[in-house]
Amino acid sequence: GMKYPVIAIDGPAAAGKGTLARQLADVLELPYLDTGLLYRAVARRVLDQGGDPAHDGPEQARQLVPEDMRRTDLREPEVDKAASAVARHPEVREALLERQRHFGRARGAVVDGRDIGTVVFPDASAKFFITASPEVRAQRRYVQRYGHPCADPAELAEEVAAINARDQQDSARETAPLRPAEDAVQIVTDDLDAAGVLERVCLILQEKGIIRR
Ligand code: CDP
Ligand code: CDP
Repeated sequence: GMKYPVIAIDGPAAAGKGTLARQLADVLELPYLDTGLLYRAVARRVLDQGGDPAHDGPEQARQLVPEDMRRTDLREPEVDKAASAVARHPEVREALLERQRHFGRARGAVVDGRDIGTVVFPDASAKFFITASPEVRAQRRYVQRYGHPCADPAELAEEVAAINARDQQDSARETAPLRPAEDAVQIVTDDLDAAGVLERVCLILQEKGIIRR
C-alpha cells in the first residue's frame, strides 16, 4: 500500500464531490486536491487567448502555474463547458497527470475528479463514486450559484441539459472517461444531504481501518 492515504472521489457534475472531499480532508487532516480546477484553469487560459477549447489546450496545460488555479472566475458556466472540451485531449491529461500524482504522494490527499480512482491513483486507499439524478444535481448547482432553488421549470431544464451534455462528453471520451473504478464504493445521494454522505463515507473508512473508531 501507499505510505500516506489517498482517498479518490469521482462522479458526475455537481454530485457533491468537492463538498465531501473538503469535509473528508478536514476529518482526516489530509490536503485536498480539486483536479477539476486544473482543467478549468486550462480552459480559462484557452478562452482568454481567444482559442478554441475543441482544439487548443495542450500548450496551455504545460504552461499552467499555481496562480491559475486561484483565479476567481473558474466556476462560470462557459468554463464548465470549455473544461470538459479541453479535458478530451490526451495531451492535456498527460500534462496534468504527474502534477496530480506528485501532490498526492507528498503526504497523502483527498482528491476529487473524474478519473482519480481509474487513472490517477488506481492504488488509492479508498475510492468513492458519488452520484445523483441529473435533476437533483442541476438544482444543487443552481442553489450553489444563485443562493436559492430554481422555481422556473424552463430555466431548470436548461441547467439539466448543460449537466447532461457535460456528463455525456466526459463519459464518452476515449481517454480516461468518467466511470466508476471496479473497486469504488458507489453512493447515490438524491436523498442524502452533505452530512449524510459524509457519515456514510466515514463509516466505510472506519471499516477499512483508515479512520480509527
Ligand atoms: O464537486 P461537485 O461538482 O461534485 O459538487 P459540489 O460543488 O461539492 O456540490 C454542489 C452543491 O450541492 C453544493 O452547494 C453542496 O452544498 C450541495 N450538496 C452536496 O454537496 N451534497 C449533497 N448530498 C447535497 C447537496
Ligand atoms: O464541479 P464539477 O463536477 O461541475 O466539475 P469539475 O470537477 O470542476 O470538472 C470540470 C470538468 O473537468 C469536467 O466536466 C471534466 O471534463 C474535467 N475533469 C476531468 O476530465 N478529469 C478530472 N479528474 C477532473 C475534471
